[in-house]
Amino acid sequence: MRSDRGGFDTRAIHAGGGVNPERALCPPIFMTSSFTFDDLAAADDVMSFRSDDYVYTRGNNPTLRLFEARMASLEGGSGAVAFASGMAAISSTLLSLLKPGDELVAHRTLYGSAHSFVSTLLPRYGIACRFVDLTDPRAVETALGERTRVVYFETPSNPNLDIVDIRLVGRAAAARGARIVVDNTFATPYLQRPLELGADVVVHSATKYICGHGDAVAGVAVAKDPDYVKTLKFGYMCELGGVLSPFNAWLLLRGLKTLGLRMRQHCANAERVAAFLADHPKVERVFYPGLEGSPGRETAMSQMSGFGAIISFEVKGGLAAASRAVDTSELFPIAVSLGDCETLIQLPAAMTHRGYDRERLAEFGLTESMVRLSVGLEDSDDIVAELDRMLAEA
Ligand SMILES: Cc1ncc(COP(=O)(O)O)c(C=O)c1O
Repeated sequence: MRSDRGGFDTRAIHAGGGVNPERALCPPIFMTSSFTFDDLAAADDVMSFRSDDYVYTRGNNPTLRLFEARMASLEGGSGAVAFASGMAAISSTLLSLLKPGDELVAHRTLYGSAHSFVSTLLPRYGIACRFVDLTDPRAVETALGERTRVVYFETPSNPNLDIVDIRLVGRAAAARGARIVVDNTFATPYLQRPLELGADVVVHSATKYICGHGDAVAGVAVAKDPDYVKTLKFGYMCELGGVLSPFNAWLLLRGLKTLGLRMRQHCANAERVAAFLADHPKVERVFYPGLEGSPGRETAMSQMSGFGAIISFEVKGGLAAASRAVDTSELFPIAVSLGDCETLIQLPAAMTHRGYDRERLAEFGLTESMVRLSVGLEDSDDIVAELDRMLAEA
């Protein structure tokens, strides 16, 4: 069966795929900039959208098209647009939905570069940006103003795992004619499908779990409205130019085949690690929606089928103690990315969220000593033993 039918794991392997001309099991990588035409009439057909053939890889390419079709199936969208990075997906999507005079409402914690884009770059083009605590239902009620055209958030958020109620924000946005854009990088469509909960567009850093192996930088946007997908692709991605390489699309297609399998193991490992950290005498606080008593737990249970595998925590003794623990790490590479097979560790305030001003970091509860762990696929006994050893050094 090579179709769009079946459950998540089946579609992660088969969706969007037909039989390619050479009957290769794995899709070919179309490493070409351009496609050729029999004659000018054929070129005119494609360029007038009368035919679905290919022109130039910045517009379309069979390997990209297969990746887009598979992502649309997994997220429950009508189509998808592949990008060269998560930031290309986020910036192109937001630019496509906003114009001078409009306002964007964003959740107060976002990945560092996304925060810089909305707080520094968008205002230069006459687009105002307001940060709101979207985990607070009362704030959601009053957050949207006359000029709000887009509400943008990550759930779970990077790095403090805030959980935003997608249905609640969706209803508030729909009532005021605003669109909602959800960054689904931490959850992946395996654990959460925002389009089914009221979002208009889902964006991903596909560099993370979708790739899953730390060997490609990529992004993707998936939407419900087919006309919007066409506008995003041909009106923005093509013009802004952040197209994905066909080789990276092929790596993502390979990664997607095991997304469900990997997420199940990531989540199982993370639940064990979170419980271990929560009981550890040297740990001050753990940010993980799966823990009993965590502020986002109920909402997470209503919209996710698992809690994901990113855990942030505070070490007793502040920055000096946290740095000592991280620096003694032998099993976990110190690295800014996440969602890979390897457990990765970093300090958001000094690394991924360095661009935030210090006062804002403190206001949002992102201390200098917060440690973010992307729990990998090693044996959970080994992950826990390594953390125990590192914390003994703290
Ligand atoms: C939640 C989230 N969104 C977007 C991005 C940006 O993605 P990329 O690095 O692929 O541009 C990241 C990167 O870490 C991220 O963590």
